[in-house]
Amino acid sequence: MSNTAKIRYEYLLEQIKLHDLAYYKFDNPTISDYEYDELYRELINIEKSHPDWILSDSPSQKVSGENNATFTAVEHLSPMLSLNNGLNSLDIESFDRRCKEGSNLTEIEYCCELKFDGLAISLLYENGFFVRAATRGDGLVGENVTNNVLTISSIPRELKTTNRPTRVEIRGEVFMSHQDFKDLNDRQERLGLKKFANPRNAAAGSLRQLDHHITAQRKLSFFAYGVGDIVPESKRPRTHMELLNQFEEMGFDICTEKAVVNSYIGLIDFYERIGRKRNLLPYDIDGVVYKVNDYKVQNKLGFLSRAPRFAIAHKFPPAEEITRVLAIELQVGRTGAITPVARLEPVIVGGVTVTNATLHNESEILRKDIRVTDQVIVRRAGDVIPEVLSVVMASRSISAELFRMPNLCPICHSQIIKLDGEVIARCSGGLFCPAQRKQAIMHFASRKAMNIEGLGEKLIEQMIDTHLINTPADLYRLGFKELMEFDRMDSKDKKLASNLLSAIENSKKTTLAKLIFSLGIRHVGETTAKDLAKRFKSLSALLEVNFETLIQVKDVGPVVANSILIFMSQSHNREVINQLISMGIDPLVDIVDDLTEHPLFGKTIVITGTLPTLSRDQAISLIEGSGGIVSGSISKKTNYLLAGDSAGSKLEKAISLTITILSESELLRMIESK
Ligand code: IVH
Repeated sequence: MSNTAKIRYEYLLEQIKLHDLAYYKFDNPTISDYEYDELYRELINIEKSHPDWILSDSPSQKVSGENNATFTAVEHLSPMLSLNNGLNSLDIESFDRRCKEGSNLTEIEYCCELKFDGLAISLLYENGFFVRAATRGDGLVGENVTNNVLTISSIPRELKTTNRPTRVEIRGEVFMSHQDFKDLNDRQERLGLKKFANPRNAAAGSLRQLDHHITAQRKLSFFAYGVGDIVPESKRPRTHMELLNQFEEMGFDICTEKAVVNSYIGLIDFYERIGRKRNLLPYDIDGVVYKVNDYKVQNKLGFLSRAPRFAIAHKFPPAEEITRVLAIELQVGRTGAITPVARLEPVIVGGVTVTNATLHNESEILRKDIRVTDQVIVRRAGDVIPEVLSVVMASRSISAELFRMPNLCPICHSQIIKLDGEVIARCSGGLFCPAQRKQAIMHFASRKAMNIEGLGEKLIEQMIDTHLINTPADLYRLGFKELMEFDRMDSKDKKLASNLLSAIENSKKTTLAKLIFSLGIRHVGETTAKDLAKRFKSLSALLEVNFETLIQVKDVGPVVANSILIFMSQSHNREVINQLISMGIDPLVDIVDDLTEHPLFGKTIVITGTLPTLSRDQAISLIEGSGGIVSGSISKKTNYLLAGDSAGSKLEKAISLTITILSESELLRMIESK
């Protein structure tokens, strides 16, 4: 039991860390806040039963948030903490009980606020003048975003009050209203720029712009909700509600949705009242926050490592609405993966208009039995793509037909194939399918494949969009004239064009293994490609393979064999291969791959100590790539000992057996000598 819990615990740790990175560092969350909270809650529950498992890097021990190295660091004068979450009324009941027990009071006053869905920020004012602004970062050190914050009109440069503290850190949330978010995305679209997924990401992306002129073009808002350090302490008001009112006098915007209540019932009433008007608010919130109103009582309750005991966020469940499925369409991803998407009658879910929802895959559609014309419940969980939760069966029309995955790709009309044991259906069009073409050519040109230098993603995209190329084989037909006529190149780019042409020409001098790898056949990585090259010896032979011959190849099982056969059965893939062959790109397996002449070929090498630049794995792959054999222990048969720093007994043994000792640079010289 405990073993399973430990495995689950480690899984949760890893997941939460990854999601923290995605959210805080890349402003690009991959799960909803709700799902994140569920993971976090499970982690905390396990930690409660197994406190001995908790290490200092557990997410529970620190405030999430990674600093982005491009801004200068600012140390907060008092730490910026986060809030514990309550997901249901039981959590709130026990929060109320804990507050009463911890303070020895029978009744507690709480200040209720909204939980704004933006990002926390700390503003330092000295003698009433704005000095600097910092993001939360890891809670102790944040990023200096002063120049960007200066572009937010609702943040006063000078506090309006005369009764000013010598120094004060004002804490609050920077966010973007629905209207400003819409305006920004309309503008992004007009300019052909990437649109933001939601207001929170737009706010975070705008605040963390290195160029504050860009921030100035985006409308950000700010609500103050707390104070960090304050000097003198006597300037701190007695209650939180008093503080909120003082913020207004100082010239800050504060949210008018706030209340003081004195019981658990009062908390729940506030939650429900706000829940009812959530969709009418002009900005996103993901819950409400309850804080013990009296600061003396707050101090008494104190903190528990990452969050205060005197406050809690009561989160809303993800927003849900009912709408109708207008159509089920298929999207073809870059690797041919087919994702069914529901086109929906537009509906506002949690303040955002939803017109599409992912249906994940065929089995999900069948499991939920989603049909065109059905009324469905759609959930938009904060930051992720909306999804269809379930069908309102009572309203199903008798003519609604069961969903069937079409046989042909909607883009290129190749066969759609689902391999045994896989949930994802894929278009078998490969190089032929425009949806996959770009990715396929990028793979074809990449370093480990045909290694065409200077042929990057942008160039490939433009060449495909203008139909200059359609398949990898077309690259070898390009001439100087076509390249010069191509939009992207102007006369200054003559050199670029001729460099590209010679890189394309040079790529012909390759090994069969690399050529096979570059075709991008599913499940055929570098090693399998090498094995196939050794066995079939030419590209033409590969066109004639069958299941029996394929499974005789080392490490090729039925899955890989089938994938190769499917690829080779598509006439357009055969055509590309034939074109490559007819253009003279059909290297013999042993021309370049022949390592028998290499000084390391067949030599047994032992590695010891720490090498100055290479990792052990890198050294092994270099040696093996030159035909050498890496062994773990020294014997009379060892040819070389590759020794780095702090080499121990192996070095002594090698010396006693008069085995040649190599340094890293000597090894590299030998490898390059061929
Ligand atoms: S108080 C010590 N009040 O929620 C407590 N936070 O998980 C400090 N937030 O990073 C936070 N609305 O970005 C507080 N009314 C509110 C809030 C709020 C949103 C965010 C804030 C913080 C996170 C806490």
